[in-house]
Amino acid sequence: MDWNTLYADRMALISDTSIIGLLKLAERPDVISFAGGLPDPKSFPLPRIKEAADWVLDNEGPASLQYGPTAGYTNLREWIAARMETIDKVSMTADHLMITSGGLEAIDLVAKAFINPGDTVIVEAPSYLAALHTFRSYQAELVDVPIDSNGLDVDRLDVCLNDLSRQGIKPKFIYTIATFQNPAGVSLSTERRRRLVEVADKYGVPILEDAPYAELRYEGEPLPSLVSLNPDGVIFVNTFSKIFGPGIRLGWIAAPPDVIAQFCQCKQGTDQCSSTIGQRIVYEYGKRGYIDRQVAESIPIYREKRDRTLAALESAMPPGVEWTHPAGGFYLWVTLPDGVDSVPMLAWGIENEKVAYVAGPPFYMDGRGENQLRLCYSFLEADQIEDGVGRLGRVIGHHI
Ligand SMILES: Cc1ncc(COP(=O)(O)O)c(C=O)c1O
Repeated sequence: MDWNTLYADRMALISDTSIIGLLKLAERPDVISFAGGLPDPKSFPLPRIKEAADWVLDNEGPASLQYGPTAGYTNLREWIAARMETIDKVSMTADHLMITSGGLEAIDLVAKAFINPGDTVIVEAPSYLAALHTFRSYQAELVDVPIDSNGLDVDRLDVCLNDLSRQGIKPKFIYTIATFQNPAGVSLSTERRRRLVEVADKYGVPILEDAPYAELRYEGEPLPSLVSLNPDGVIFVNTFSKIFGPGIRLGWIAAPPDVIAQFCQCKQGTDQCSSTIGQRIVYEYGKRGYIDRQVAESIPIYREKRDRTLAALESAMPPGVEWTHPAGGFYLWVTLPDGVDSVPMLAWGIENEKVAYVAGPPFYMDGRGENQLRLCYSFLEADQIEDGVGRLGRVIGHHI
């Protein structure tokens, strides 16, 4: 069979084997890898997870192995609604919520429901590479707006939306990771949050707020969620991946009930419902207060790693290298002097110093960011960090 003649057009938009190849190399056991955005396994409290799982199997065994409602397990949706009231300061009911198979499925369902081929979607530059991949797979035209140390540049967004509107283009949504952004680690300031919802509202464009890291704050006060500032104009997506564990593959969407009904239609054609047993386990776990406890216990683990990474960068980076200072989340973003290309440097670094990161270009819609790279500090052992950053300093020093 000549498979290459059969693929859909979208495949040409989403195939980039070079990056996948490099990520595979980064998994070699002899490499200190700042690449994958994995939680620290020490943040998974196995006895408590086992307690919830045992309870579900002992008390709800058959129901937990059955199909469930497409919108998700009602008890879990009610529990999330109540928790969002405390954490995200927004009033929700179970009807505003659906459970998804991870945060990424949530993003995919939003894209599937809204994007026709050629529709415009606004993204941050840089942004979460898997979300860019998803939007591309629905043949969206991506338009990006830069971020700085205070998150999305909302004045530039205003200009961009104005330009598009003069061309008769109304974007389908603005995708933003407002808190502890992936990849940059920066957060949108409170003032800009207010401006962002105003600007989006002025042009009638919804916001897709992605908040997987918002609870993992290592210092400072929580910032208002965008959904709390405009519940009718924001679709909020979140995940249990960083506050429970990604292996459970569960996340959620909060949106007006009519919009949720449309996402449920989309989910009918994918998995019909997210893991029933997983949802019941997370509900039992959450109901016992264990998610709050896990978050509280995870924060010092990640704070120490963040601190060690920042201190190591301070002592190991050659002059001319800059990086962000995240107050939470898993990532920081490094900018190298102009002309240093992080893609070939990665292959060199893996080979010669056995250190890996994710190079900048896949975080941009058009492959910019050659002189940038993402470091994820969440997964490495704290005492590997100095060694890893030291190696990276030598790699960069060799390429400047
Ligand atoms: C910004 C962002 N959004 C969404 C996700 C989705 O996570 P998952 O599908 O594991 O729940 C991630 C995971 O790394 C992420 O970094």
